[in-house]
Amino acid sequence: MNAPVTVYVPADAGALSLGADRVASAIVAGASARGQNVNLVRNGSRGLYWLEPLVEVVTPAGRVAYGPVNAGDVTALLEAGLLEGAPHALRRGDIESLDWLKSQQRLTGARLGIVNPADIDDYIAHGGYIGLSTALTLAPAAIVKMITDSGLRGRGGAAFPTGIKWQTVLDQPVAQKYIACNADEGDSGTFSDRMLMEGDPFALIEGMTIAARAVGANRGYIYLRVEYPHAARALAKALSAARARGYLGENIRESGFSFDISIRLGAGAYICGEETSMLESLEGRRGEVRVRPPLPAIKGLFGQPTVVNNVVTLATVPVVLAKGAQFYQDFGVGRSRGTIPLQLAGNVKRGGLVERAFGLTVNQLVYDYGGGSASGRPVRAVQIGGPLGAYLPESQFDTPLEYEALSARSALLGHGGVVVFDDSVDMAKMARYALEFCAVESCGKCTPCRIGSTRGVELVDRIVAGANGSRAADLALLDELCDTMFNGSLCGLGGMTPFPVRSALKHFRNDFMK
Ligand SMILES: Cc1cc2nc3c(=O)[nH]c(=O)nc-3n(C[C@H](O)[C@H](O)[C@H](O)COP(=O)(O)O)c2cc1C
Ligand code: SF4
Repeated sequence: MNAPVTVYVPADAGALSLGADRVASAIVAGASARGQNVNLVRNGSRGLYWLEPLVEVVTPAGRVAYGPVNAGDVTALLEAGLLEGAPHALRRGDIESLDWLKSQQRLTGARLGIVNPADIDDYIAHGGYIGLSTALTLAPAAIVKMITDSGLRGRGGAAFPTGIKWQTVLDQPVAQKYIACNADEGDSGTFSDRMLMEGDPFALIEGMTIAARAVGANRGYIYLRVEYPHAARALAKALSAARARGYLGENIRESGFSFDISIRLGAGAYICGEETSMLESLEGRRGEVRVRPPLPAIKGLFGQPTVVNNVVTLATVPVVLAKGAQFYQDFGVGRSRGTIPLQLAGNVKRGGLVERAFGLTVNQLVYDYGGGSASGRPVRAVQIGGPLGAYLPESQFDTPLEYEALSARSALLGHGGVVVFDDSVDMAKMARYALEFCAVESCGKCTPCRIGSTRGVELVDRIVAGANGSRAADLALLDELCDTMFNGSLCGLGGMTPFPVRSALKHFRNDFMK
């Protein structure tokens, strides 16, 4: 047989759902039948989901991509010369020269789809562990200062400055501290946490290790969404490799610093993504929100000071340490510094992961990257920031995707999920859905959320039915209910439900008046 040709087929959950395993098997079997030897690498996805399964072949001229490839295409592809990177209708050439990818600014997701997520040497060869090496030469306070100076804010939703959170934990004069990674990724239409864990798990592990070094923690937990079995496997493999190579465990890289990480599977409720609920669940109890104060940074997991950060936040930390605070700070606008992995989903032609500096407009995302709706009908609205995010009408698609600009329009960026709807959407149904979601997912601890959401569903039903001429009174009551939920709820689940409801009423009122 000839020398093996390296072929990349993603083992990312998104690609798998589109048949990537069948494609991989067909390539191996087909190549072997033709007497060709293949070195199959299961990488993560590059995030061009409309091209998945995306197969890449390593040729002397570089990686050549084909996609979307079905198992049924493989025989014809091999006949056409897939393993030499030959022409075919599905050939996309060098994927990095495609505008969709070339125009992105990938810092956190720089290695996605490029490296083998199970191979620590590949990670190191692509700049991995430079951040930790730097951190090991610095005093904890200096690491925290770098994170503060970079302007990094939490990517899980609340956008709280990461440096301030770390400083609070560092300042606690106790021996036992924890790093808890929030990998619950509960927002609809979001997948960047999953992509990172499946496609570049060492980045998260390195970020957690740097966080531990910075605040003086020796134990870390990844609270992983139970629906993410592929991420669990990728992380477990990466954790063992990091331990075997001295990047985790006792006396990391002979520095005298020790830290290890365990995975805990989530309980499958949206509220378990809220940080205090997550800590309850991590401790083995039902996921219910804790009253704050005390903050988790002061009294968190098992009553000890705990850094709770999102996957994207932690996976960004190595970039800051490796390239410097100023490098990171130089991306973005206003108080939104760095880049944000935007997840484009819903009724859109080219959905996927777009990592750009903060400030890209909704228009640019939906049309330049997304190519408009998948149905070909006019785009009517986007929902940004998960099930509790506001709906923006097309007239506001000039809004830059950054925290303050969205907040000025009574919207939020959340975890960066953007879901597209065409003109067949019924916004009264979407408002009702938000309230129903809140009712189903409420932890039940406070009345505005537990009772308010159920009464809200009834109100929307009455408004739409226009029963008994009570529409005006019911609209006023719904407004008052939103005020109560916003101001009186103990956490963001009840507190943010008014965002989709109010934005639907404000921008799409006619849908309620049928
Ligand atoms: C109802 C609710 C659900 C949440 N779900 C998640 C989640 O799935 N993942 C996440 O990282 N943060 C989630 N958050 C935000 C967390 O409470 C917390 O702010 C975050 O994990 C802190 O990390 P960061 O500073 O790195 O963003 C949620 C918040 C609320 C109110
Ligand atoms: S707002 Fe809802 S989810 Fe949050 S604490 Fe209150 S009842 Fe629980």
